[in-house]
Amino acid sequence: MDRIFSGVQPTGNLHLGNYLGAVRNWVRLQNQYECVFCLVDMHAITLWQDPAALRAHTREVAAAMLAAGVDAEKHILFHQSANPNHAELAWIFNCVARIGWLNRMTQFKDKAGKNRENASVGLYAYPNLMSADILLYKATHVPVGEDQKQHLELARDTAQKFNNDYGVEFFPQPEPLILGAGTRIMSLRDGTKKMSKSDDSDYSRINMTDDADTIALKFRKAKTDPDALPETEAGLEGRPEAANLLGIWAALSDTSRAEAVARFAGRAFSEFKKELTDLAVTVLAPINGEMKRTLSDPAQIDAILKRGAQRAHALSAPIMDEVKDIVGFLK
Ligand code: TRP
Repeated sequence: MDRIFSGVQPTGNLHLGNYLGAVRNWVRLQNQYECVFCLVDMHAITLWQDPAALRAHTREVAAAMLAAGVDAEKHILFHQSANPNHAELAWIFNCVARIGWLNRMTQFKDKAGKNRENASVGLYAYPNLMSADILLYKATHVPVGEDQKQHLELARDTAQKFNNDYGVEFFPQPEPLILGAGTRIMSLRDGTKKMSKSDDSDYSRINMTDDADTIALKFRKAKTDPDALPETEAGLEGRPEAANLLGIWAALSDTSRAEAVARFAGRAFSEFKKELTDLAVTVLAPINGEMKRTLSDPAQIDAILKRGAQRAHALSAPIMDEVKDIVGFLK
C-alpha cells in the first residue's frame, strides 16, 4: 500500500482553516493509505517556543487529531523528537542538499524577514529536516498545501541527488497530494488575509477549542459588506468576505462554492450567518467535546504518542541503517 507522511507544527491553537485544509483530509486519507502523522516539534523550535507552551501545544494538537478521527491504532501518530532518526537523516541531507537550493526557499525569506543574519541556522536548514521526515519512511505521497510545495520539490531533488551521488536506487520520489483545492479559509475580519493562528484578533478565526456560543459570536461579528448575497459566483468578484463565508459553508457541508451561492442567492448576510453558525457548530461541537475529554488525561495522550514513536522508529530504523551503510559509516 502507498504510504503517506504528513507533518503539522504543534505551535498553538488549531483553527477552522487547519481543520478544513489539513486535519479533515488526513482523516479521509486513512482509508486509502498507510499513514504516518507527525507533530513536528523539531520544526517548531526553528522559531522560539516557550518550553511549557510547546509541551501544551503538542498535546493539544494530538488531542485535536484524535478527536477529529485520526486512528492512532491503525496508523501512526507521534512527535518528531521522539524518533532520533529524523535528526540523523537531516544531518546527512545537510550534506547532500546544496546551499543554492536552500537560498531559493521562499518560506525562509518570509519567516526570516529583514533580519536574516539573526535567523536560526535551523530555520534555514528546515527544508532538509522536512526531506528527512518524508524519506525516512520512504513515503510515496505527501499531502501538501500551496506553501509547502517548494519544500516537497526540494525533498525530491535531495532524494535524487542522494541516489546519484551514491549510485543507488534507494529513495523514491515522493509525490505531492494536493488536497482540498479551493478551500483557502480566510480571516473573518479581512477576507483577503489567510485565517491564521498568529493574527492578533481572536475574532479573525474559529478555533477548534471554541464552544458553540463563541462560534456564534464570531460569525455574527464576522466582516461582511452591505449587499445581499449574490445570485451567481461571478457576483463574488470584489467581495472577499462573502466569498470566504460561502466557501466556509461549502467546505463544511462538503459541496462546491457554486452550490453554496445557489442556495443562498439573494439572501441577507444575517440569515446566512445563522445557518453557517448552525452548520459549524454541528461539525465542530463533537470534535470540540472529544478534544476536551482527551485533554483531561494528558498521560493518556503521552502514552499514545510514545507508542506511536516506537512504531515510527521500528519503521525507520532499518531504512536509517541502510542509509548509514550506503554513506560509509561503520556499523
Ligand atoms: N513544514 C510543514 C509546515 O510547516 C510541516 C512539515 C514538517 C511537513 N515535515 C513535513 C509536512 C513533512 C509534510 C511532510 O506546515
